[in-house]
Amino acid sequence: MVTENAEIDIDIEGMGEDGARSIAGASSTDALAAVETELLGKRSALTRAHRALGRLQPDARKEAGRRLNEVRAALEAKVASRRAELDHSERADALKADRLDLTEVIPSAVLSAPARGHLHLVTQARAELEDVFVGMGFTVAEGPEAESDWYNFEALNMPPAHPARGMYDTLYLDVGEPETVLLRTHTSPVQIHLMEEAVANNTLPIHAVMPGKCFRQDTPDARHLPVFTQIEGLVIDRDITFGDLAGTIQVFTEAYFGAGMQSRLRPAYFPFTEPSAELEITCTICLGEGCRTCSHTGWIELGGCGMVDPAVFAALGIDSAVWSGFAFGFGIDRLAQMRHAVPDMRSFLENDIRFLSQF
Ligand code: PHE
Repeated sequence: MVTENAEIDIDIEGMGEDGARSIAGASSTDALAAVETELLGKRSALTRAHRALGRLQPDARKEAGRRLNEVRAALEAKVASRRAELDHSERADALKADRLDLTEVIPSAVLSAPARGHLHLVTQARAELEDVFVGMGFTVAEGPEAESDWYNFEALNMPPAHPARGMYDTLYLDVGEPETVLLRTHTSPVQIHLMEEAVANNTLPIHAVMPGKCFRQDTPDARHLPVFTQIEGLVIDRDITFGDLAGTIQVFTEAYFGAGMQSRLRPAYFPFTEPSAELEITCTICLGEGCRTCSHTGWIELGGCGMVDPAVFAALGIDSAVWSGFAFGFGIDRLAQMRHAVPDMRSFLENDIRFLSQF
């Protein structure tokens, strides 16, 4: 209170203590802002007391002014620290309210264990086919994906400029001397590696399957991929006939597709087999009606086969008066596509988890 007689009658210490209590009691930043205006604003007791100082005697004015300033500074500091405190707890409350507890919406099993994938359908098919052939007494062999012209073509009775080379849209890695290097267009070159080895080590007969990737400069479509997988077969023994080939194909197609699928062997031409045939099955997408996948023929070609041509035996130094044999090469992607009735083979490479996880 300021009195008319110019004696200052204000409780400066009391103002400080009351102010400190109000500041401490402010329970939100909004409440604190109101307290601040009340204590330190233009119409506060403190400001009014300041204005009243002029009416005091100089000595008293100086002393009171100093104490008023001290109180103001102390209250300002208290407001600032209380504000920091309230800001902090209000932000913490807001964060708590906004927090999304993922453990409440996602089952704990999913959070604790990463999702488990599985082998690609084509890899599964390859393993299944290997099992079927191993069950029939075949061994499993592999060869290189980058091949020389000799293994991919020449030893298979396709000399340079042979028109049959045109069937294979070849990707060449290096066309040159002394050796042309290419990406194998089929798994048949592995036949040559096995025959060479068997001749060198004198280990004929051969009963082997050779799965692996093949490459052709093909435009992808419903039943072609430029990178695909084949399983090659080669049997060289005494007295092998076309009947052995047909029987082997029957056993493996029934093991893979189940009984009752319709197949046919159509006469065909391959330079390394004679006679040659193509194995076709009824298209499982349209059941023979004709559709986009089978180019409206009702049939799907799974691969080629035939009796090993004597010219191949001659190139390897195998006596065809003693040894005879059959060979086949089937597309694993096609086999898997037909077994699962996948209308478009490109689905295999699109990495759509909704497609892949079905198998
Ligand atoms: N290699 C041939 C192809 O991919 C298929 C085949 C293999 C034909 C073995 C006869 C014998 O076209």
